[in-house]
Amino acid sequence: MDRVLVTGGAGFIGSNFVHHLVEHTDATITVLDKMTYAANAEALAGLPADRVRLVVGDIADETVVEPLVAEHDAVVHYAAESHNDNSLDDPSPFIRTNLLGTFTLLEAVRRAGVRFHHVSTDEVYGDLDLDDPKRFTEDTPYNPSSPYSASKAGSDHLVRAWVRSFGVRATISNCSNNYGPWQHVEKFIPRQITNVADGGRPKVYGDGLNVRDWIHTEDHSSAVLAILERGRIGETYLIGADGERSNLEVVRAILRHFGRDEDDIDFVNDRAGHDRRYAIESGKLRAELGWRPTYDDFDAGLAATIEWYLAHDGWWRRAKASTEAAYAAKGQ
Ligand code: NAD
Ligand code: DAU
Repeated sequence: MDRVLVTGGAGFIGSNFVHHLVEHTDATITVLDKMTYAANAEALAGLPADRVRLVVGDIADETVVEPLVAEHDAVVHYAAESHNDNSLDDPSPFIRTNLLGTFTLLEAVRRAGVRFHHVSTDEVYGDLDLDDPKRFTEDTPYNPSSPYSASKAGSDHLVRAWVRSFGVRATISNCSNNYGPWQHVEKFIPRQITNVADGGRPKVYGDGLNVRDWIHTEDHSSAVLAILERGRIGETYLIGADGERSNLEVVRAILRHFGRDEDDIDFVNDRAGHDRRYAIESGKLRAELGWRPTYDDFDAGLAATIEWYLAHDGWWRRAKASTEAAYAAKGQ
């Protein structure tokens, strides 16, 4: 795979994958990104110009997608509207990008015979009770809760249908919650780090007992590359790093890092339809492809992420005030 097209490659996780490809392969890379509010050109700064180029365009625009896809050996598809709260405020861009955009890419890879990897989420499986001994596996039935997760579930189904009906050479990965550099301040961990860094209080939805299964973006990227290179066509792989933490545990760790009182928390309006718990069983990926996470200590990874945000305040401050104003208007 000499020429790789990465959709959404200017976003939080896609940009990490572009760096990972540069460091671990000889591929030349095209990023196709609409440069929405979630994109960061800075996250791609410093990459070698003879190996990485940025094309600004919409994955739902076939006049852009068709010729571009045909120039590549593989497409790794990250582009999406990605934030649950936004999907509750206005689902329409989620339907257009996540469903129509994925459809447009699938038609292009079908015509050009190009390998496709679809990056998806564990949220397609709905949620688990806090005391459920089970975790999500590749066989868990789909049961999405929000417009975002329903749009991702629909996109997964499209990929499976294009594999079965048209023989498209595709794989799918469903990953748990990512943390690390360049994540937008609308998301939980960056929002709370930046609140506390400015002397404010973390804003926790509901009772704060909801559990997420955290993985560092670097580990997500190494898993996607392993699947792209060695995954079996038509297969789905779950990606997770055994990082289950309640939201309260996470904000208390952030408060401790700053030397603040662990109970210095604002409990705010809950998210509609808020999923209780996600948990990933990633045994298939580990056994078949030999993948292992390198960030196996969440507290150390979180501490490094806090330090990264403190060193990059010029970047996140550009979006902080408007993001907080939108949350405040909803009592969050
Ligand atoms: P993000 O919101 O940070 O970035 C999304 C990127 O896609 C942005 O650069 C944006 O400009 C681009 N984009 C949006 N609409 C587009 C369009 N129509 N055409 C072209 N580009 C478009 O998202 P993220 O958190 O980096 O997530 C990336 C992918 O990983 C998504 O598919 C998401 O569902 C999946 N995922 C995310 C997580 C997580 O914890 N964030 C976990 C599992 C899976
Ligand atoms: O599980 C994978 C998913 O993880 C990805 O598919 C999504 O793209 C990604 O955004 C993420 O979804 P979540 O909804 O789990 O992440 P978010 O950061 O929005 O919220 C994490 C948890 O924190 C969730 O239980 C809601 C809660 N929360 C969130 C915010 C923004 C708060 O308590 N307070 C907040 O201010």
